Amino acid sequence: METRAGDPGAFTRFDLTRVPSPAFVVDAAKVRANLAVLRAIGDASGARVLAALKAFSMWSLGPTIAEYLDGVCASGLYEAKLGREEYGGEVATYCAGYKEADLPEIAALSDHLIFNSPGQIARFRPLLDRLRAEGESFDIGLRINPLHSEGEVAKYDPAAPCSRLGFPVTQILPEHLEGVDGIHMHTLCEQDFPPLERTWAAVQPLIRPHVRSLKWINFGGGHHVTRADYQTDDLIAFLKRVRAETDCDVMIEPGEAVALDAGILVGEILDLFDNGMAIGITDISATCHMPDVIEAPYRPAMLGEEASGPITRLGGPSCLAGDVIGDYRLPGDARVGQRFAFLDQAHYSMVKTNSFNGVPLPSIWLWDSDSDGLKEIRRFGYEDFKSRLS
Ligand SMILES: Cc1ncc(COP(=O)(O)O)c(C=O)c1O
Repeated sequence: METRAGDPGAFTRFDLTRVPSPAFVVDAAKVRANLAVLRAIGDASGARVLAALKAFSMWSLGPTIAEYLDGVCASGLYEAKLGREEYGGEVATYCAGYKEADLPEIAALSDHLIFNSPGQIARFRPLLDRLRAEGESFDIGLRINPLHSEGEVAKYDPAAPCSRLGFPVTQILPEHLEGVDGIHMHTLCEQDFPPLERTWAAVQPLIRPHVRSLKWINFGGGHHVTRADYQTDDLIAFLKRVRAETDCDVMIEPGEAVALDAGILVGEILDLFDNGMAIGITDISATCHMPDVIEAPYRPAMLGEEASGPITRLGGPSCLAGDVIGDYRLPGDARVGQRFAFLDQAHYSMVKTNSFNGVPLPSIWLWDSDSDGLKEIRRFGYEDFKSRLS
């Protein structure tokens, strides 16, 4: 899988020795710039824009995100709680499967409770009615599966055959939408505008008969809106058109776009040797710090990578043979102690880190490229590793 981002932005002038290694460094100015693009889309289109916490939940930036966006979308109890505690605005929670025991707390935290199937809505209806009677205020959504694929990779395509995500749109009956306030769909991944338009074109005739009973339509995430070549004007026109045609409120919930190109992961070379090619052991582990490198898989772009010169295969300190990040032409001669950084690591890396093998977690730093101010947000230690085990 190709990653289309990888613009170093202001990080070209960041001195990598200013932070300990490994470390995530997030540029607050770039996050603000991304948020300004998203706010402008919301303002021009009348759509509400929610930040997807699953992609980027560096909650020290919660107040900044709340200044620009209308709220957050959460994937379950913990993210809903984080959204309420540290961000502002509305909380839209979608989970592929809710547990009855969690629902009262999730309902208390959420403005929109989005279910994956009419079956779950029906099963929990008595509980939802009781919670409302007790004073909770939330509306109910259903995630539909448009059965229209735009994704290149099945693993990241919720509309792929036999997907578990969303109720197949062709199966919707009027009774499934009784007491349902909105529909949600999410089938895109790092995409341009035309796939969204085609998805709506595929889905719209099937949901048109039901639209009159709905209050809102949520177009999920996967819109790469903060990429320089995204067709922002087309998105704005589309969102306005859907609002006018359906008389529904419209929402989008981008995640990656909030933090696109806004963070780097700084690492250090710990050892170098030859085994058929130059091998570099680093304090960054693909499996612990950038699991999507293995899962997607993809090759993260490196800050200042040379266009030609010797190639070094970089991998982490863990015992996993496949803990390989990729083959790189390092800036300058490869040497033990050399610092380097992978680009575009703020989203979907920080939220996925783990300490397999007892590999230390990267510390988290906030840099402001406008002021050059640098602040340590969090450093992790042995106690963080131990406290997840017993
Ligand atoms: C339901 C839902 N909403 C929003 C998002 C955010 O998507 P992205 O970060 O690609 O914008 C995702 C990502 O998987 C999702 O599953």
